[in-house]
Amino acid sequence: MTKQFDAIWINGVIATCEQGYGLIKQGGIAVKNGKIAWVGPMQLLSAVPEDLADDVYDLQGRCVTPGLIDCHTHIIYAGNRAHEFELRLQGTSYEEIARQGGGIQSTVNATRLASEDELFQQSIIRVRALSNSGVTTLEIKSGYGLDWATEAKMLRVAKKIEETLPITIQRTFLGAHIIPSEYRGNADTYVDLLCDQMIPKVAKEKLAEAVDVFCEKIAFNLEQTERIFKIAKQFGLPVKCHAEQLSDSGSVALAVKYQALSVDHLEYVSHAGIKAISQSGTVAVLLPGAFYFLRETKLPPIDVLRKYRVPMAVATDSNPGTSPILSLQMILNMSCTLFRLTPAEALEGVTRHAAKALRMEETHGTLTIGKVADLAVWDVEHPVELVYYVGNRPLCQLIKHGVRVSL
Ligand code: NIG
Ligand code: FE
Repeated sequence: MTKQFDAIWINGVIATCEQGYGLIKQGGIAVKNGKIAWVGPMQLLSAVPEDLADDVYDLQGRCVTPGLIDCHTHIIYAGNRAHEFELRLQGTSYEEIARQGGGIQSTVNATRLASEDELFQQSIIRVRALSNSGVTTLEIKSGYGLDWATEAKMLRVAKKIEETLPITIQRTFLGAHIIPSEYRGNADTYVDLLCDQMIPKVAKEKLAEAVDVFCEKIAFNLEQTERIFKIAKQFGLPVKCHAEQLSDSGSVALAVKYQALSVDHLEYVSHAGIKAISQSGTVAVLLPGAFYFLRETKLPPIDVLRKYRVPMAVATDSNPGTSPILSLQMILNMSCTLFRLTPAEALEGVTRHAAKALRMEETHGTLTIGKVADLAVWDVEHPVELVYYVGNRPLCQLIKHGVRVSL
């Protein structure tokens, strides 16, 4: 006889993340056909677990959370920028290195030269590391190609990684990362190329689910950003924005005007910018890894974001220049120690709010009946321990679409 559930986890601490931790002590969770079919306190279970499912896992007090969601990464690239790290430690700034033709452009050069297979092999190692930190959904941006062939190559590699690992990947087209060196002094011609050719092709070939722009002095100005947003929306692609990372340009208000899924970084966001976010459905994505690695001193105004009840997601921003970080747990810790989020806010930032930043809140991000059964089981007694430890690896099971995957 078929049983009510495919699998059930019993006797654990269930952090639903529906609001704050959303804790159920002495709880259980069951899955059926890849979806969450039951979650609640053990005493409300309708029968003995063995009668309800063939696969019964006794958690023995361990903690279950939603599979973590990293909603902002640039994890596909060739080479690395360890050498620029040394230069910055000697006093050269990130912007100075960019102006001298290093920075993002040097990763563009390396990524253009790499074959598709080389790019895949180099990148999948990093995605695997993130997956081992409990990540089951990942956003990956292009943006180290800045020509059609390489941008498309990056987006294909993202798809191939999704087909290889137990991870859901949302792809974002970031052709507007910087002005590539061959268009320097001719930025608007590059924006023409993005708007007239690349974005329409991304939409037509369904290569990405969103379009992002780096709006900054060293990248695209407000006017260029707006042109790109307009075209993206015309082709049915939602937008995102690297906004107010190094200066306050007004990009947050612009992004909100185009119903951005998220505005990311926000170190220099103004009060007015935060008010604009609060009146929209846009998520604020905080990236403490880049703040840390650039040794930034200007904190994003967390108190004001909190006061206006802006949903705050947290992500690795994993990239070779400003955040070579491959652990979302490390980022949870940084978001509390550096940005002063509470541990519960941090956890919501990599579950519920991160799902919203990817427009996946209906199906992912909380342990709620009917949502996709992407779960992480941790060898800890309380979810605060996920935020507290630095460098340990407490993940003991990862469940993707209701099925246990090997770590
Ligand atoms: O999110 N701000 C722009 N993009 C990345 C940096 C990428 C790089 O330096 O390679 C960021 O910090
Ligand atoms: Fe970024």
